[in-house]
Amino acid sequence: MKTVAILGSTGSIGRSAVEILDRAREDFAVVALAAGENVSELRTQLVLFPGARFTLRDASSVDALVDGSRALAGRAAGFGDAGIEALLRDTRPDIVINALVGVSGLLPTAIALELGCTIALANKETLVAAGEIVTRLAGGRPDRIIPIDSEHFSLARMLRGHRAETTEIVLTASGGPFRGRPFADLAGVSVAEVLNHPTWRMGPKVTVDSATLLNKGLEVIEAHWLFGFPYEAIKVVVHPQSVVHSLVRLRDGSLIAHLAPADMRLPIMSALYDPEMRAFPWPSLAVEDLGSLEFRPLRPEEYPAFALAREAAAAGGTAPAVLNAADEAAVDAFLGGRIGFLDVVTWIEEALGAHERRALGGLGDVLEADRWTREYLARRHGETAAPRSA
Ligand SMILES: NC(=O)c1ccc[n+]([C@@H]2O[C@H](COP(=O)([O-])OP(=O)(O)OC[C@H]3O[C@@H](n4cnc5c(N)ncnc54)[C@H](OP(=O)(O)O)[C@@H]3O)[C@@H](O)[C@H]2O)c1
Repeated sequence: MKTVAILGSTGSIGRSAVEILDRAREDFAVVALAAGENVSELRTQLVLFPGARFTLRDASSVDALVDGSRALAGRAAGFGDAGIEALLRDTRPDIVINALVGVSGLLPTAIALELGCTIALANKETLVAAGEIVTRLAGGRPDRIIPIDSEHFSLARMLRGHRAETTEIVLTASGGPFRGRPFADLAGVSVAEVLNHPTWRMGPKVTVDSATLLNKGLEVIEAHWLFGFPYEAIKVVVHPQSVVHSLVRLRDGSLIAHLAPADMRLPIMSALYDPEMRAFPWPSLAVEDLGSLEFRPLRPEEYPAFALAREAAAAGGTAPAVLNAADEAAVDAFLGGRIGFLDVVTWIEEALGAHERRALGGLGDVLEADRWTREYLARRHGETAAPRSA
């Protein structure tokens, strides 16, 4: 029996994790839940897992959830970053599912690594902003960080047993809702159009990133830190069906492809049971129904956000943290209706252009680059750049 914490339990990944863990009570005990502001969903989860302690982003949300109940008050671990830290230190789970969104997932990852937990990591921003530091904190034990991302789950499956012979890895990209349309023509697209992803139902931030294709750039950086391949050996192809999630090329030139349903419960379940493999209780792919599978090159010049991510990755140091922070600020402004879709890319470009890249010594340098970026964009764009929660 392993103990599990779910950070971001009310989100898209978090709710899928809850569904899996609810059915796997003989193998796992949920001891900790962290959410932002969705009090009603978290209350339901606390009924489902009566042994779990919890935290929320703000004191007011904790008060709303406790609502005078002494039993619930006794299960609260505080709020904000300190609340998550207390939650992890008090419960010391075997596995921490980090399904937070954005760089807010970074410190919880660092704390969980310090406590010796295994991390089932959906929060790719952790590795984008601070991959160099986080892998160092994992003490050369990459098996302590298990990816919850369809492409990286798929790569991990194929690399097991083939790592030494693999010369190149290939991530697939669906192309998002605007595949085939020139990026420059997307100035007027609405938030609703952007959030209408053709193959995946996900939280808003990663859905916007999928529409700009920055997400695929973030995933290239994530793959680099997870599996240790140089950036030249990480390719991306557009594959609209989202059936093949990745391919690996072996030394003899042959390719192995990994096919799986577009269902995040598979990577989540796999991360929980790793290194064991269990039967998946939901529908698998039927080979007879696969139909045609298409692949075409992803041309960076067609997707400027992807190209910027590649540049930041190659620059290294603080550049990926700036890329990530600028994107978070810009996506927030776009979702809040304060800027247009193309401005997201402009903001990233501006921040990367103005930033003086530095080498990373520790987590403080990452957080400083993150703070610098948000302040730079706030100075440049004033109220438009103000976070929605402010
Ligand atoms: N969704 C997918 O299919 C998918 C696939 C691959 C990778 N990922 C990655 O997984 C991560 C999560 O994505 P998602 O789609 O699940 O996002 P999401 O639906 O927006 O969920 C985010 C979760 O984080 C919580 N949260 C946000 N800020 C918080 C804070 N300061 N303190 C505590 N909790 C906070 C939210 O709480 P409230 O809702 O209560 O505010 C929610 O539970 C992202 O890094 C994403 O890139 C997602």
